[in-house]
Amino acid sequence: MNALVSELQQQLRARSVRKLVVIADATVSALYPHYWDELSHEFPTIFMDVPAGDASKSIAQAEQLWLQLLEACCDRDVFILNFGGGMVCDLGGFVAATYKRGVRFANCPTTLLAMIDAAIGGKNGVNVRHVKNCVGTFCQPEFELPCDLSFLQTLSEKELLSGFGELIKCAIIGAPALFCELEALEHLTPGNIQPGWIDKCISVKHEFVKRDPYDLHERHVLNLGHTYGHAIESLFAEEGRPVAHGEAVALGLFYESRLMAQIGQCRQEDADRVERLVRRHYRVPAFTEDEVRRLVDFMQQDKKNQQGHVVFVQLRGIGDVSPDCRVALDLCAKVIR
Ligand code: GLY
Repeated sequence: MNALVSELQQQLRARSVRKLVVIADATVSALYPHYWDELSHEFPTIFMDVPAGDASKSIAQAEQLWLQLLEACCDRDVFILNFGGGMVCDLGGFVAATYKRGVRFANCPTTLLAMIDAAIGGKNGVNVRHVKNCVGTFCQPEFELPCDLSFLQTLSEKELLSGFGELIKCAIIGAPALFCELEALEHLTPGNIQPGWIDKCISVKHEFVKRDPYDLHERHVLNLGHTYGHAIESLFAEEGRPVAHGEAVALGLFYESRLMAQIGQCRQEDADRVERLVRRHYRVPAFTEDEVRRLVDFMQQDKKNQQGHVVFVQLRGIGDVSPDCRVALDLCAKVIR
């Protein structure tokens, strides 16, 4: 039994769990069909697969799961385990937080992105049309499980790059030494993701979540790169060529550091370092004038906005950020032209 399964076994025993539901990404289930075998001998387990992809982060899919839970006669004492990447952690967390007004759950993240971000901190939710995380709750998992890095071996390059975007973000907001290590990385492969990087990102995230669990102020810095990132994600989803979340965040880091340098907030040499790191691993797209207009429309829908301005994380340099910085909409558009 590996460390993750063994820890989960202890935690479920301690809570006298009698019924376990594993909500899994169908791709992950297919890749790891026997992962929970040792556990399901002890705890009656029901498996509920959801189709892979962000399209499953929807109210329709949540309803499917609520119905399946009802049909399986799950009561408030059911324990839900979300097994997959960010989509499953967000969707499964939302289903757990709302089913019968809330049941206990934990996340078993299988992607780099979920290990360092989605599985931690209690945010959950679904998208509405192309508006990301439009409906959701804050609800902390019962406990966190140790990461099983062997899952990284089966990630596609796209998924790895997606997690890497969040990793760069974590380094910028709270781990400047990690940023230097990332700058030294020539090629991204599952084998050269260092366990220490994941641990560092998790502790950066814990720190901000502890200070501001309901995302009222200080936790906003975790959204670095997300103002442009969410808009880019929404635009590409609308165009039928979806981009992975963390990939959009990486592009968002590129544009936000540029924007901050242009308005005199960020040291130019630090903005250049972010630009070089992003360009080494990601293709920065050229947007048409129509796309720029639509990106700005999406940015206006961001939950943090205030009257004609878009709220960004204030980036002054690597390891030097603070929560809110209001920027006029026309400046936001100028940077992406
Ligand atoms: N992913 C940003 C947060 O958890 O606040």
